Amino acid sequence: MSTIVFLGGGRITSAMLAGLRLAKTRHRLVVHDRNPGKLRDLKKRYAVAVEPDLNSAVKQADVLIVAVRPSSVRKVLRAVGNAIGSPIGNRTGNMSRPLLAVSLAAGVPLRQLSKLVGSPLQWARAMPSPLCRSGRGLTAMTFPRTLSRANRKGVQNLFASFGQVVEIPESKFDAFTVIYSCSHGYHALATLARTGQAAGLDRNTALLASAHALADGIIAWRDGKDSLGTLVEEAVTPGGIASATVTKMDAAGYGRAVRQGVAAGLRRARANAGK
Ligand SMILES: NC(=O)c1ccc[n+]([C@@H]2O[C@H](COP(=O)([O-])OP(=O)(O)OC[C@H]3O[C@@H](n4cnc5c(N)ncnc54)[C@H](OP(=O)(O)O)[C@@H]3O)[C@@H](O)[C@H]2O)c1
Repeated sequence: MSTIVFLGGGRITSAMLAGLRLAKTRHRLVVHDRNPGKLRDLKKRYAVAVEPDLNSAVKQADVLIVAVRPSSVRKVLRAVGNAIGSPIGNRTGNMSRPLLAVSLAAGVPLRQLSKLVGSPLQWARAMPSPLCRSGRGLTAMTFPRTLSRANRKGVQNLFASFGQVVEIPESKFDAFTVIYSCSHGYHALATLARTGQAAGLDRNTALLASAHALADGIIAWRDGKDSLGTLVEEAVTPGGIASATVTKMDAAGYGRAVRQGVAAGLRRARANAGK
């Protein structure tokens, strides 16, 4: 059993804690945040230990999960650096034992993280989503070449407790981050349901029809053996209603809108790298 310390007790920490509890994790879970109210809430909901003092939080960690917004990373890591270097950075003095740190901060690269706090911290990056709350998440991870196989396995197992884990090179991490957001599904659901209401459905029926339309086919594709092309062919009768609808959506710039949205996300990720 290890002690996992979360720096930042916001949205993604809450979802990860829920996923870890669902998986009946044996790890000890500790959260540090600057908002006492959030700490109280997390303690009540997930029976975690909370630590308002950053020095003390870092001192307890076997694995540090950096879960603050990209704009806060620099400040938090400066404080971590001080904690590690301070006499209370470890039970016996300055911290010299290696400490594994996993950053969730979108866009902030490994070289930047190591520059902010180097040894004894060893860095990895992970990109989970709030879907880890239900145990059905997907997490991308990337590691520096220098990280040992045992350390890789350790963090992979941690994130695998709430869903699938894929390892991808850091050069592709931003692309993954932009494409893998459950907000795409929520956004499509909201847009289709709004359009359904405008076409005369009541809100609940519009949401029900839209959710089934978007989710069921995708789950069938993911869990089944048929190719996407085969499923599209089955669902879209030539000359029928679905055919008219998707043809018009494509002609109106559906693909272009998605490409432009993804490009904006990638620009934001690159901007985060400079924060
Ligand atoms: N949300 C997601 O779905 C998701 C998914 C994958 C990765 N991520 C990444 O995870 C990170 C956190 O995202 P989030 O959505 O969970 O953000 P969030 O809800 O804003 O949570 C961040 C928490 O960290 C606290 N914090 C900031 N600076 C601090 C400091 N110096 N000391 C102590 N606590 C501090 C914040 O407090 P204040 O509110 O007072 O600032 C807030 O409670 C981001 O880097 C994001 O890119 C998020």
